[in-house]
Amino acid sequence: MVGYTHSAFRRLVAELGGCGAVWTEMLAARQILSENSRKSPWLRRRPEEGFMVYQLMLGPGDPLERIVDRLGEAGAEALDLNLACGSRAARACSAGSALFEDLDALRTVFRRVRRLWPHVLTAKIRLGRERPEWRLRFAERLRVLEEAGADAVVLHPRFFEERFKRRARHELFPWAASLTRLPLIANGDLSGPDTAQAQTEHFASVSAVMLGRMALVRPWIFAHWDKAGSVDLAAIWSRMCHYLTEDFEPALALRRLQMFTRYFAANFKFGHQFNGDLARATSLEDIQRRAASFFSRGPTTVPQPTLAGL
Ligand SMILES: Cc1cc2nc3c(=O)[nH]c(=O)nc-3n(C[C@H](O)[C@H](O)[C@H](O)COP(=O)(O)O)c2cc1C
Repeated sequence: MVGYTHSAFRRLVAELGGCGAVWTEMLAARQILSENSRKSPWLRRRPEEGFMVYQLMLGPGDPLERIVDRLGEAGAEALDLNLACGSRAARACSAGSALFEDLDALRTVFRRVRRLWPHVLTAKIRLGRERPEWRLRFAERLRVLEEAGADAVVLHPRFFEERFKRRARHELFPWAASLTRLPLIANGDLSGPDTAQAQTEHFASVSAVMLGRMALVRPWIFAHWDKAGSVDLAAIWSRMCHYLTEDFEPALALRRLQMFTRYFAANFKFGHQFNGDLARATSLEDIQRRAASFFSRGPTTVPQPTLAGL
């Protein structure tokens, strides 16, 4: 997730018990080719991080050979092509949702990456644009990904134009799975194991689940999937602060910590006040002072944070 699943956050997740696989932020060619892969918070990978998927924002004009070579040198084991993002930056280079829409370009780019990359290669998709024939177009694109040699598909079942409005349509997972031999990874509005367990008929056909925003709220959620446990929220926040200061220069570390806090605050009953206060911090010292003051008051937590508004 852009701005969030950087090296510091991945380190935190690993320390809290890890998860099956973690996706990097969506990476543009520029980030991959000009960054030092041993230091960059986008590219670096610590041994404890486990299985990591480098997510790419690629368009037909990008130097695919150089990008894939570079990631291979950096020790990547898995790549994912983002075909879901509708941001201006992605669309400007005909990547993300624009690539999903353009069937010929999609086929060409995916085949080229597949030829260059012998390891795990996945794609992240949405339902497409909402129009009368969207189901046909969706099925066609799944077929292209399958024929081009994808290993799995991550589906966030919303339309591009919805962004995060309405709800993820979990009831479409069985239909999507029936269209392809590819393993389907279900994503969107999952709060934890309960979401899937409450709708077994929708999730029976999927091979795995991917959590986005709730993983930012509860970075320990994967480790506690089968058995609940207690966590020390103040210690987790401090650890995040510490890891960010190690991997980012101070101004960026502060900004990333404020962004993380916006999600983490959903664990608390008065989290909006915590978030609002920390958003006003002007330095790393200041934000730590404000956080220490909040935690010293023994803030009330909520049993199940919600994704509403996040
Ligand atoms: C701030 C933010 C940044 C995101 N960045 C990415 C990204 O870089 N790549 C990607 O595939 N999805 C990205 N997403 C979408 C999430 O991966 C996920 O598909 C979406 O949030 C729905 O899942 P969730 O309900 O579990 O959060 C982002 C979402 C948010 C809120």
